[in-house]
Amino acid sequence: MNATSKYVLAIDQGSTSTRAVLYDHAGRKVIASTQPLRQLRPHPGWVEQDPDEIWSSVLAAIANALIDGRIHPDEIHSLGITNQRETVVVWDKQTGKPIYHAIGWLSNQTAELARQLQAAGYQALIQEKTGLVLDAYFSATKLRWILDHVPGAQERAERGELLAGTIDTWLAWKLSDGKCHVTDYTNASRTMLYNIHRLEWDDDLLALLRIPRQLLPAVRASDERYGTTENYQFYGVSVPIAGIIGDQQAALLGSLSLEPGMVETTYGDGAFVMMNSGKTPATSKHLLTTIAYGLDGKITYALEGSIFTAGSALVWLKDQVGLIQSVPESRLAAQQSTNQNEVYFVPALTGLGAPYWNPTTRGAWFGLTRGTTKEDLVKATLQATAYRTCDIVETMEQDTGLAISQLSAAGGASRNSYLMQFQADLLHRQVLRTNDAEITAFGAAALSGVATGFWADWAEVKAIYQAGKAFVPDLPAEERTRLYSGWQRAVRAASVFQP
Ligand code: G3P
Repeated sequence: MNATSKYVLAIDQGSTSTRAVLYDHAGRKVIASTQPLRQLRPHPGWVEQDPDEIWSSVLAAIANALIDGRIHPDEIHSLGITNQRETVVVWDKQTGKPIYHAIGWLSNQTAELARQLQAAGYQALIQEKTGLVLDAYFSATKLRWILDHVPGAQERAERGELLAGTIDTWLAWKLSDGKCHVTDYTNASRTMLYNIHRLEWDDDLLALLRIPRQLLPAVRASDERYGTTENYQFYGVSVPIAGIIGDQQAALLGSLSLEPGMVETTYGDGAFVMMNSGKTPATSKHLLTTIAYGLDGKITYALEGSIFTAGSALVWLKDQVGLIQSVPESRLAAQQSTNQNEVYFVPALTGLGAPYWNPTTRGAWFGLTRGTTKEDLVKATLQATAYRTCDIVETMEQDTGLAISQLSAAGGASRNSYLMQFQADLLHRQVLRTNDAEITAFGAAALSGVATGFWADWAEVKAIYQAGKAFVPDLPAEERTRLYSGWQRAVRAASVFQP
């Protein structure tokens, strides 16, 4: 290690913000800086972003972290990238100018195309090759949309004049001033164009969606050195770009959920539950099979369940319903509720994701009486995230036959101790809350540090890892069964309601 290289930098590029986080050799977070990011909504349901603004937000986040931490760019040993997944950008190979906005993972502008592909019977083929359900969530239909809607784009792509990629690819290309056109296995596995068994862009899927292969980046391991920053793009220094991983996979890695059966949930606006399923891909009718990471030439697979509405239900309670003044207030309100947990909230504010996959279900309250209080409603809203997580964890166990050996919790909403205790009670298992809510950035930093020798190996990362708080279940089994069966009845009832 260079004597002046004191820090590893993680760039965590998300849908609403970009963070730059620096870690020292002891694994301590030295400084972090956040830049907010706009989401453009040109039509209802569409979510787009300006790729140049994403890039500027990365530069600004890094600059602010360096200035605030009084750190010289020379002191950065390497940088790792973790990112919002599925969101896709297409740009001109010569000028580097995007030909359209980035289309965001939440955007539904390709729902009709996904529906047509479903109607044409491609669901099974796509699931078999990619592990994903056929959905507008993934990059493939978004890429098709850009090539269809920007005049001349298809022809230019076929002539090799354009490049495409997820946000990791865009940032690596910008940081290297056009020298690296790469992605990693985890990001590739979210495109719906990548064969997760053969580990290659799938010719049949490329043909089905008419995506020219030369548009797509090279797919590499998550722990490689891909290149270096071009010094005029990066404060006058050349830093190894090493370590690329999708954000939910970074959280799995960052919480050291490295063994089959270990599960990590990131509780944010939505929540993502990911189970390490080991070296062979586990399959489930209800969950996504995806790549957890590719380290040292070996692939580890994961099962993933997405909850579209988690922390955002509390934001809704605050902003639209006015039941609380601030999101953290929800913990106190839940503790003040004195009812017997007989009120349920089904948080289907944008449909229900895994394991139900029902986009038309609407949100609903159940079990209200004249005695129901505001606190009861807030408690039920918080509890809903724990019930939804429980739905996915139970499905993971049933579908894989793997025993869950560890459950980690990260993300902003994991700092709510009421939610964490209720989660442990409901799952009837210990829940380990990570010491740092932003375990995603740590995952990317660890990858980058191990890839470049800043840390010798994962054993050293384990040794410096700062364990968090354990929430131990404290609810009689029969009470847990009563609560969970009430929840299941509430979901069934909400699912049959049609407005
Ligand atoms: O699949 C979407 C996921 O990667 C979420 O990203 O940054 O919006 O939490 P973010």
